[in-house]
Amino acid sequence: MTALRPHAEDQYSDELALLAATDDRIRPPGWRLSPQAVVTYLLGDGAKITPKYVGPRRLIEVAVATLATDRALLLLGVPGTAKTWVSEHLAAAISGDSKLLVQGTAGTAEEAIRYGWNYARLLAEGPTEDALVASPIMRAMRGGTIARLEELTRVPSDVQDALITILSEKTLPVPELNTEIQAQRGFNLIATANDRDRGVNELSSALRRRFNTVVLPMPASAEEEVEIVARRVAQLGASLDLPAVPTALEEIRRVVTVFRELRTGLTEDGRTKLKSPTGTLSTAEAISVITNGMALAAHFGDGTMRPADVAAGILGAVVKDPLSDGVVWREYLETVVRERPDWLDFYRAARDA
Ligand SMILES: Nc1ncnc2c1ncn2[C@@H]1O[C@H](COP(=O)(O)OP(=O)(O)OP(=O)(O)O)[C@@H](O)[C@H]1O
Ligand SMILES: [Mg+2]
Repeated sequence: MTALRPHAEDQYSDELALLAATDDRIRPPGWRLSPQAVVTYLLGDGAKITPKYVGPRRLIEVAVATLATDRALLLLGVPGTAKTWVSEHLAAAISGDSKLLVQGTAGTAEEAIRYGWNYARLLAEGPTEDALVASPIMRAMRGGTIARLEELTRVPSDVQDALITILSEKTLPVPELNTEIQAQRGFNLIATANDRDRGVNELSSALRRRFNTVVLPMPASAEEEVEIVARRVAQLGASLDLPAVPTALEEIRRVVTVFRELRTGLTEDGRTKLKSPTGTLSTAEAISVITNGMALAAHFGDGTMRPADVAAGILGAVVKDPLSDGVVWREYLETVVRERPDWLDFYRAARDA
């Protein structure tokens, strides 16, 4: 049996071992690698270390430097800007463990952030060390590693407040046992939050002050976005064992162009204004449209990805609200797609989809 999706530290264990072996810079207490080597792990070195994140180096340097201080890191951005992805790889490179994860939701309770109890044991033995169920954050404090909290702004504010003591005092009191857990050196927290959720549970200023915020941007240029999509699609195709479909750069370019034009409300040549659909049309969605297209081509086509293999996926990504988005999409098809001579196959496939 193999895991469908190995953790970063397992999937890239060779790269991490290589970096650790050649890293002669100072490592902060509890870190597996120096800050320099962590940045190299994320951005690649053009040789044996593959890039995981494609984007401004400075952002990653600020993120890594933050984690070496007593402030926690908040990765902020619109959906699909690799917040979760970057947080996993940072934890893997710094602590060798990206698994200490709390998924924030409206239902996240304080126990998920602090600790809970094994009720059978609690009733039988009363509150003891063995009856306590440590949260991932408590385990990270004990082990001196990085903990991750996904979607911080979805967590109810009173539960968010449980983080304040942890982040400012670096201790977690356990009054039931008349004791406390002190964070070991190397402990820190990476939280992610979605721009679009802002306001759901606006962070209290007391909590905000404990974080350095790094905003992950949308890819700066179409070429950069094509590179990200092509790279991730190749990795995903390999891990899903899809029969090899020649990397259809042409289709990737097309999907990225459609997404960028609709997202920005302007055609690439800057001539035609467009209406934007309600969805985000993120890079992550472009990746899944292409991966789906590859699966269609591999299993139901002749092994070459064609416009018809991506048309349905694009339609699904663009038209989230059948009424308003349907109008936007049809207008785009008729005024932009139809006028591009080399897009004729795609126009027909999209019209029929
Ligand atoms: N700049 C980028 N560099 C590398 N990969 C990227 C980049 N942008 C997006 N991706 C890819 O997009 C996918 C989705 O990213 P991820 O799930 O981390 O987004 P997110 O910001 O957490 O979104 P959400 O707000 O929906 O949780 C990942 O597979 C990631 O590899
Ligand atoms: Mg995410």
